Amino acid sequence: MDELTRYLDGLAPEHDAVQAEMADYADREGFPIVGPAAGGTLRILARLADAERVFEFGSGFGYSAAWWARGMNGGEVILTEHDPDELEMAREWLPEGDYAPSFDYRDGDALSIVEEYDGPFDCVLVDHQKERYVDGFHAVREKVAPGGVVVADNVVRGPADFPTLVDYAEGETVPDDASAATRGIAAYLDAVRAVPDFETTVLPVGSGLAVSVRSE
Ligand SMILES: C[S@@+](CC[C@H](N)C(=O)[O-])C[C@H]1O[C@@H](n2cnc3c(N)ncnc32)[C@H](O)[C@@H]1O
Repeated sequence: MDELTRYLDGLAPEHDAVQAEMADYADREGFPIVGPAAGGTLRILARLADAERVFEFGSGFGYSAAWWARGMNGGEVILTEHDPDELEMAREWLPEGDYAPSFDYRDGDALSIVEEYDGPFDCVLVDHQKERYVDGFHAVREKVAPGGVVVADNVVRGPADFPTLVDYAEGETVPDDASAATRGIAAYLDAVRAVPDFETTVLPVGSGLAVSVRSE
């Protein structure tokens, strides 16, 4: 682990009891949760946006949803997950926590489910298949409230090839033979940076978050 990651992880906020159980499970099973440094960022963003409604593309067993919830005073978090076993674990775990919002557990393809909601959403997490991040952003962007945020995970670490992303950030074209995940992350960054009503910055917490704030 590099020094910056050790530093950010060392300063990350503590898990609550439910999140600690979830994180132990993720460690044992090798399941990719956002982790406490990125999770603490979700909590802060929820507070700053005074979030009442959060939508997640790819919720797993509810770890990231718990972080959003810890920054909210009420409202709801909509979880989407196409693996029913994961979603069942979220249904069992989240009610055990001391969380103010309610949770809406939606089983199925997040890209279809989002079409059933009008918004507005104050916060959105994009954490499903990397090659479909762009589709998620375009499906949700008009439903994000002014001042709301769209956060995408794994823009630094994860399945994408980081050296290729560095070349991309410096202006090179992503090669056609790059992995689908690498092309997906680069295409997502292209899309969010091209839309004039969103301002985007990348934070190196956890696996790297692209945070896009709707300005108007
Ligand atoms: C990286 S994990 C999510 C972790 C979660 N956000 C957290 O940090 O606690 C990605 C999850 O998205 C789910 N997933 C992938 N594509 C999906 C889709 N199109 N619709 C719903 N769920 C999807 C996977 O089954 C997996 O559980």
